[in-house]
Amino acid sequence: MTKKILILPGDYIGPEILGEAVKVLETLKRGGADIAWTFGHLGGAAYDAEGHPYPPSTQKAAREADAILLGAVGGPKYDELPRELRPERGLLGIRKDLNLFANLRPARVYEELADSSSLKKEFIAGLDILILRELTGDIYFGQPRGRRKNADGHDEGFDTMHYSRPEVERIARVAFEAARKRSKRVCSVDKENVLDTSRFWREVVVQVHKEYPDVELSHMYVDNAAMQLVKKPKQFDVIVTGNIFGDILSDEASMLAGSIGMLPSASLDANNKGMYEPIHGSAPDIAGQNKANPLATILSVGMMFKYSFNRPEVSDRIENAVKKVLQQGHRTGDIAMKGEKIIGTREMGDAVVAALG
Ligand code: IPM
Ligand code: MG
Repeated sequence: MTKKILILPGDYIGPEILGEAVKVLETLKRGGADIAWTFGHLGGAAYDAEGHPYPPSTQKAAREADAILLGAVGGPKYDELPRELRPERGLLGIRKDLNLFANLRPARVYEELADSSSLKKEFIAGLDILILRELTGDIYFGQPRGRRKNADGHDEGFDTMHYSRPEVERIARVAFEAARKRSKRVCSVDKENVLDTSRFWREVVVQVHKEYPDVELSHMYVDNAAMQLVKKPKQFDVIVTGNIFGDILSDEASMLAGSIGMLPSASLDANNKGMYEPIHGSAPDIAGQNKANPLATILSVGMMFKYSFNRPEVSDRIENAVKKVLQQGHRTGDIAMKGEKIIGTREMGDAVVAALG
């Protein structure tokens, strides 16, 4: 059966980096991959075209697709819109609508780029951690939220943090299953010393762990985890955490890898239908200049083949092609060291296509 991919380029550099991912898809299709794709709108681009950041046309196409490839959404052009119409709402909307609760954000250091991390090479060489972020619960979606007058008559803003047992159970299972395919270690990150939500989270993770005695489980407070990630990052294998902590820690972890321009991500539902996107944003400052690094998006295509299409060998092929172009010395601005020659978005995409053979 032909796998249907919905491509959502999004805003600013989104269409540029997606253009390079499409070159990779075309190459794979010519080589026999049974895939087809269509394009849709999400974020600011969707607001411009259809008046809503996650319009009905995109909802329909997204529900029908086997996988979704997303560029990036948001940017200054949309900052003044009311909150329900902002690009970020489109992103949160599609995650929730498709029940994409498991967000996999691997942070790996490519040998060739170990010097471009802001951390010393010996701390990060060979680093390979997986941040697993719960993506459809927590304070991101908790109700009630909003504005009110407090008991003293002052205006206040408020949000609600909560996690239900099924929500924690399913993300914990994804963590233990993922760890089984790696170094068999899970570190669950919470704020159990302060938050009731975290206390409950920890309790449930410990219960689910009983089904996975072969996997080692540890716990860490989020503030300590933020410190340990820069102090001794290689101590981690799989980090599992809630939505807000995962948002913060995954940005931190991306810097270990040298450039945020290198990191792909997958957001999966219970049946491995997924949305794949680079973890970086829409980079308005370099949009339209052929400067953006398309590698995170291309690696996201790799994750799509691995997780949604069950074709790990295609994913390996893409990863090897990326490694090869790095070995050949191809660098976009974000990963270039002083004095290294810088190539553009399109040239980088062409290099990957050539390396795919
Ligand atoms: C991310 C982003 C989003 C989030 C924003 C754009 C809503 O920071 O994917 O990490 O907070 O989840
Ligand atoms: Mg984020």
